[in-house]
Amino acid sequence: MTLNNIDINEIIKTNSPSRTKWFVPGSIVSKRTINPIREVVCNMKTSPNPDKEQISLALGDPTAFGNFKIPESCNEAVIKQLKSYKANGYINAVGCDEARLALVQKFSTKEAPLATKDVFLASGASDALNIAIGALCDEGQNILLPRPGFSLYTTLSKSKGIECRYYDLLPNRNWEIDLKQLISLIDDKTACILINNPSNPCGSNFSSQHLESILAVAEAYKLVIITDEIYEDMVFGDTKFYPLASLTKVVPILKISGLAKRFLVPGWRVGWIFVYDQNEILSEIRKSLFSLSNMILGANSLLQYSLPDIILNTPEEFFQETNKKLEFNAKLSVEALSSIPGLHVIIPQGAMYVMVGINIDELKDIKNDVEFSEKLLQEESVMVLPGECFHYPNYVRIVFTSPPEKLREAYDRIKEFFVRHHV
Ligand SMILES: Cc1ncc(COP(=O)(O)O)c(C=O)c1O
Repeated sequence: MTLNNIDINEIIKTNSPSRTKWFVPGSIVSKRTINPIREVVCNMKTSPNPDKEQISLALGDPTAFGNFKIPESCNEAVIKQLKSYKANGYINAVGCDEARLALVQKFSTKEAPLATKDVFLASGASDALNIAIGALCDEGQNILLPRPGFSLYTTLSKSKGIECRYYDLLPNRNWEIDLKQLISLIDDKTACILINNPSNPCGSNFSSQHLESILAVAEAYKLVIITDEIYEDMVFGDTKFYPLASLTKVVPILKISGLAKRFLVPGWRVGWIFVYDQNEILSEIRKSLFSLSNMILGANSLLQYSLPDIILNTPEEFFQETNKKLEFNAKLSVEALSSIPGLHVIIPQGAMYVMVGINIDELKDIKNDVEFSEKLLQEESVMVLPGECFHYPNYVRIVFTSPPEKLREAYDRIKEFFVRHHV
């Protein structure tokens, strides 16, 4: 074989290959990239009862049943950009100016001011989290994560060789953080604290006093906070959502949010990071966010150009309506599930989730939350996620975005299931 008149076989002979057999292992990074939800669910026996229609209360996707929809005006905003042929090219990897400016216009406040340089667009909140964690934490350092918590935090951190340390959320205190235990986890290698408010999987919403206590800890130990606020403003009744950054002028914050939940379009993959840093502590981190954003040459251009219309022109009533529907479903869920002996329900204040404790001792033939979820699916075709997915055994997480009639049907089946399995 020759190439440019060079005999390749001759060259190979003189540079004898060290590998004599094919051997192609997966990379170390890929092997330590594990999603606990996949781990738990893939090992579960997941065949539903063929005689009953399956109802999934497992998926945190509000579009799954067609009852939660983005307003038509947002679809039109995307169509307008699609037809303009101006939104098809590469853009600034940290986000196009139009999108960054719209986010500043919408979210900058007196207490927590933002400029365009503080806004980094990403491919969903997941990517925003990936960039934020990557910018702040080094391999060998540790990150403080909530337990129970959204499993992607663990996946992203472990993938980067960062040690995950879990601080406890207290079910009997509306899932507030056990701050004493959190402090006990901090050492010289702690890179940052990550909080999630309102919470997946807890459906909790922290009071301003509690957020101030968290900030006091961060200030004392000089720790940056990543605050995942993807469910911001999705709260019920008299509960008020407080953006963490509005409560401090001292602690530097990276806020994560996006379109997925409030605008009901998780598949559009639009997320962002806001940098709140009134004392210019994060100058290096801004450079890191810039470098990491450039790894994939930035997020979707079409959606970013549509963002000004989506963010600035969506009527407030749309969000109120969504929250009302979620609150109705939350109440329905609490009422139905609380009436089942053997379950204890922690009343949700926001997001789209409720965590339900199972008194395992009261069940005669079920040993834990994983087996509970398996048998519930096999017998009643109702799918819930075991707490194990969130590092919190003997609870299950229920997503209450299904239409009310489906929820009622699912809860009736859970009731029947308990009648059979309760001691
Ligand atoms: C707490 C939390 N953060 C981030 C995400 C990821 O959001 P996105 O779909 O925008 O990547 C989710 C998705 O369920 C979530 O529950």
